[in-house]
Amino acid sequence: MKGVILAGGLGSRLFPLTKVTNKHLLPVYNKPMIYYPLETLVQAGIKDIMVITGGTSSGDFMRLLGNGKNFGLKHLLYTYQEGEKGIAHALALAEHFAAGDKIIVMLGDNIIEKDIKKEVDIFDRQEKGARILLKEIDKPERFGVAEIRDNKLVRIIEKPAIPPSKMIVTGIYMYDHQVFEFIKTLKPSARGELEITDVNNRYIEKGQMSFGILKGWWTDAGTFDSLLRANILVAKQRSKR
Ligand code: DAU
Repeated sequence: MKGVILAGGLGSRLFPLTKVTNKHLLPVYNKPMIYYPLETLVQAGIKDIMVITGGTSSGDFMRLLGNGKNFGLKHLLYTYQEGEKGIAHALALAEHFAAGDKIIVMLGDNIIEKDIKKEVDIFDRQEKGARILLKEIDKPERFGVAEIRDNKLVRIIEKPAIPPSKMIVTGIYMYDHQVFEFIKTLKPSARGELEITDVNNRYIEKGQMSFGILKGWWTDAGTFDSLLRANILVAKQRSKR
């Protein structure tokens, strides 16, 4: 399985912190944000990884991460997303890299406590389709929220005013090769983006989406509050060691 980290976008919810630098280069406690998803994928046994960056300071990713040697990788690939047209738009740039293999995609601003090796192994054995990781949180409105009936995932609603559950879709997605065909059929959403939630709903409609529940804490780091939360969670975890 190959890995893709999405680190494009403008990070406008963090202005002016992101006025001259890319959100994923900002510090989260003692490391730049992008380190966390990269370490998560490496821990899960992923060896071929592409970082999709964009916006400002994209060249700095190369200075920071180099060829991935410090993370135990033999090489690291990069590409550049022009414009900020959504998560699915960024992911489309990885089609050539994926070359028909299964992929695990992680959003560059998602930080988690535990390793996800078991989940990756489950998807490795899944014949086809996709797998997502859900997490129960208190205020789900800001995320993709799962509607679950009789233990079955019925659909995902992006940023619902009235959430159907407290189960949000984390920014860790596992896909087979069909993902790139689905992306090609998407239309921009009300916020002008190609939504990953539309891709996930396509898999659900086809009966090809499985899900797991993420263990340990999870946070994104794309707003002032969640960035602070990410810093505190990482700091607490380090002080426990
Ligand atoms: O964090 C999980 C949530 O991420 C999910 O629950 C939502 O369903 C999903 O839509 C997404 O929601 P956000 O609105 O928080 O996504 P955001 O626009 O903040 O983008 C998240 C990451 O995706 C960001 O750190 C970099 C990458 N990205 C985003 C955009 C819009 C790109 O690489 N290119 C882009 O054009």
